[in-house]
Amino acid sequence: MPAQASWQAGHYTFKAAPLLALHREITGAATSTDESYRLRINATGALLTAASPLGIQRGLATFRQVIEATPHGWRAQFCDIQDQPRFRWRGLLVDPARHFLPVAVVKRTIDGMAAVKLNVLHWHLCDDQGWRVESKLFPRLHTVGGATGYYTQAEVREVVRYAAQRGIRVVPEFDLPGHAGALLAAYPRLACNDSLRAVPTRWGVLNIALDPTRESTYTMLDSVLTEMSGLFPDPYFHIGGDENDGRQWRHNPRIVAFMQDKCFLNAKGYVDKHQLQNYFNRRMLSLLQKLGKTMVGWDEILGPDLPAPVVIESWRGPKGVADAVRLGHPALRAHGYYLDLNFSAAAHYAADPLQGIPDSLQARVLGGEAEMWSEFADSVIYESRVWPRAAAVAERLWSPAGLTQDVPDLYRRLAFVSEELDAMGVRHRRAPAALLRQLAAPYPAALPALQTFAALLEPVKEYKRHFQGFKYSTETPLTRLVDAAPAEAEVARRFGATVDSLLASLSIAVPRFPATGPPTLSPVASRQLAALRQQVADWQHATEALPPLFVLSPSLAEYAPLAAQLGLVAALLDQRLAQLAQGQPPLPAWQTTAKAQLDAAQKPVGQAELAIIGAARRLVGSQS
Ligand code: ACM
Repeated sequence: MPAQASWQAGHYTFKAAPLLALHREITGAATSTDESYRLRINATGALLTAASPLGIQRGLATFRQVIEATPHGWRAQFCDIQDQPRFRWRGLLVDPARHFLPVAVVKRTIDGMAAVKLNVLHWHLCDDQGWRVESKLFPRLHTVGGATGYYTQAEVREVVRYAAQRGIRVVPEFDLPGHAGALLAAYPRLACNDSLRAVPTRWGVLNIALDPTRESTYTMLDSVLTEMSGLFPDPYFHIGGDENDGRQWRHNPRIVAFMQDKCFLNAKGYVDKHQLQNYFNRRMLSLLQKLGKTMVGWDEILGPDLPAPVVIESWRGPKGVADAVRLGHPALRAHGYYLDLNFSAAAHYAADPLQGIPDSLQARVLGGEAEMWSEFADSVIYESRVWPRAAAVAERLWSPAGLTQDVPDLYRRLAFVSEELDAMGVRHRRAPAALLRQLAAPYPAALPALQTFAALLEPVKEYKRHFQGFKYSTETPLTRLVDAAPAEAEVARRFGATVDSLLASLSIAVPRFPATGPPTLSPVASRQLAALRQQVADWQHATEALPPLFVLSPSLAEYAPLAAQLGLVAALLDQRLAQLAQGQPPLPAWQTTAKAQLDAAQKPVGQAELAIIGAARRLVGSQS
């Protein structure tokens, strides 16, 4: 949402294509990082003014949103928009390490970022499961570490150029000293032990770390990071630094002796992995300083003597940003913006980088980043996990806090953005749609029913997918129904909103005296009730149409019990809506049975769950 916008009556209709006059105002204050712009549309046409090319980029993104195609040509409502970002760092972490993401996916993601005015692509280029950049100096990095996919150096340059053209910086992350499985499989001489024989295919925090005690480690890292940093003109360079519990260090007598020798000991006299990691961080820092880079790392690199210019990206909790800025560091908030947890857009929207930060320290908060880790998102469905929810984070980071409190309005606008992204070619809608077509191929007549069913499902939240009796690895195909299910089921969300609005209008119904029969519903409530009954009937029909597909499509069969549960829930909801139409409160015995049924329907199946159960509970439990 723009910082300031006034809309006037009237529209400007463009003669042919939507033409926009651009005016670059060179003012004394203009800097290359100034993203402010002014967009005016009136009876004389459309004018975009900005002090820098970046401002022009951001204004163009807005212009794209205010023009509309009509049968009479392109037109735009008269407006005067003056806009600038609230935070200067508005990022998206893209993770091609867990599942490789080809350049085309990265470019489409950059297109989406530009549309919602995100300005930093945080490119997580290595992890346990993959090293994703060609190295001319150490080719085993990409031939072994990137055997399942890597970017050539030419491709990296191409992505950096493509992003820059859209006003987006690229900050690479080379995660060290933990999350180093692929690096160590390629160059075992950097490892703490010889137990790693191949690039790991398991998920989880593997606690594989390189040996930070040998000078040869730094000699190689110096060469590797010098080579890698040459590909990325951005002044920031992310070294990761997360999730290494030091177990490999403690198990190696030579590393333990090193720690003792350096007095890396805690208060009880035991070797302290934090101090060894701080030592490693300082070595990384001097290396990056030599390359003219500002170091960025996750919370874990925060230590007592970490120099203040180092940027901390906080992912572990809401306190992390406050801890970092109190110690003098610039900071980024990632906590609350993890798209891979499958939380709602509203949940991400509620997280603010300045929460809990004293006024005097707020200037140190650079902004934040949405994070999309790719354990459960391959190149086909990655975009569907990013969009449209990342747009909610983008708005949180761009718009004034006071303008961004209205959650229903957020969802109204997210629907527009989602449409815009789809028109631009982003595959967040079409990839899951194609997956459903593929799943329905053995019995295409059931495709509409499968679409109805899938639209009511969400993958289980947080990282529960790892813990539901199905063992995933890098090689597990992500082609099941759970992968086509939206991270946030919009149909279910809207169903819940209609239920709440119906219940609210019933609760304020004026009782009539003397009673002359069932209370009459207001016209709005009647329409809502009819719409809900129709929707529930559609769900019932869908569940009746699905069984032949479950028989013919073995990969879908596991979801048959969940579809059956949906059928039962739909029947219950139909009963409850009929009661409401008649003005009958539910009988306690009926309610008890209904609640037990909803408990059963809430259980995930195939790592997916029905997203309507919360709303169903509210409807069933209401006393109206
Ligand atoms: C992280 O999620 N380990 C940064």
